[in-house]
Amino acid sequence: MELVVRAGEIAAILAANGAGKTTLLQHVTGMLRPVEGSVRVFGLDPYRDFEKVRTRLGVVMQNPAEQIIGPTVGEDVAFGLGHLGLSREEQEKRVQGTLEQLGIGHLRGKVPHYLSGGEMKKVALAGALVIEPELLVLDEPFAELDVSAVAELVALLRRQSREKGSSIIFTSHQLEPVALLADTVYVLNGGQVAAKGRPLEVFQQGEALEKSRLRAPDLFRLVDMLGQGGLEVRPDFDPEKVAAQIIAAFAGGR
Ligand SMILES: Nc1ncnc2c1ncn2[C@@H]1O[C@H](COP(=O)(O)OP(=O)(O)O)[C@@H](O)[C@H]1O
Ligand SMILES: [Mg+2]
Repeated sequence: MELVVRAGEIAAILAANGAGKTTLLQHVTGMLRPVEGSVRVFGLDPYRDFEKVRTRLGVVMQNPAEQIIGPTVGEDVAFGLGHLGLSREEQEKRVQGTLEQLGIGHLRGKVPHYLSGGEMKKVALAGALVIEPELLVLDEPFAELDVSAVAELVALLRRQSREKGSSIIFTSHQLEPVALLADTVYVLNGGQVAAKGRPLEVFQQGEALEKSRLRAPDLFRLVDMLGQGGLEVRPDFDPEKVAAQIIAAFAGGR
């Protein structure tokens, strides 16, 4: 399989549980060395050139509690800055700015152990963003988030991509955040890319999704069923646009 993420691109790895999303990301971040094939990040081998790659790469693991090691939130977030040769003042500014950007400035002096799951996720994200990474790697960042938290994170990551030009690779087993955020989606199944393209294209491939133990959004399934019944409707993420087409078709037929 081939998977290429260009500078500034937002790529989603969409797959069912156990399909290898985390394993794939661990190869990208140099935690694992491939037995077959090869991985290049910024043209480097992330396993061999771990330190060089890591200073340009922000990672949020599936379980953020595993990566939060500082005695306080502030010290934890500052951890990745140690390699960048910044003055103490500049470090302070970066940490505070990043915490505030995520709305958790007030957690700076707190002991991470006592934070809620959602707060932990934000602290881990702060630790990844504080180095101003060229590439951000996020493992299931949307799992367990409620609707408004999903929207908030989508907006934040879009801004990061647009304003800082960061590339983003994230995994998901949910389709909605993929639809909202990704430029390109890769659907994984059995170690292969089962489908690839823009979210709108991929969500129309119902069969490939089913085979990969996923399911197209109901709206896309409805459009497909209407098409099979002879009513051609352009698929869209927005139910209003789909409804407008159906209403127009009926109005024309009357
Ligand atoms: N392409 C693959 N080759 C070898 N082992 C794989 C592959 N994909 C997944 N695995 C194995 O399957 C298990 C689950 O993978 P994981 O990456 O945790 O899946 P996910 O994050 O999608 O739930 C792991 O033990 C992993 O080593
Ligand atoms: Mg996983």
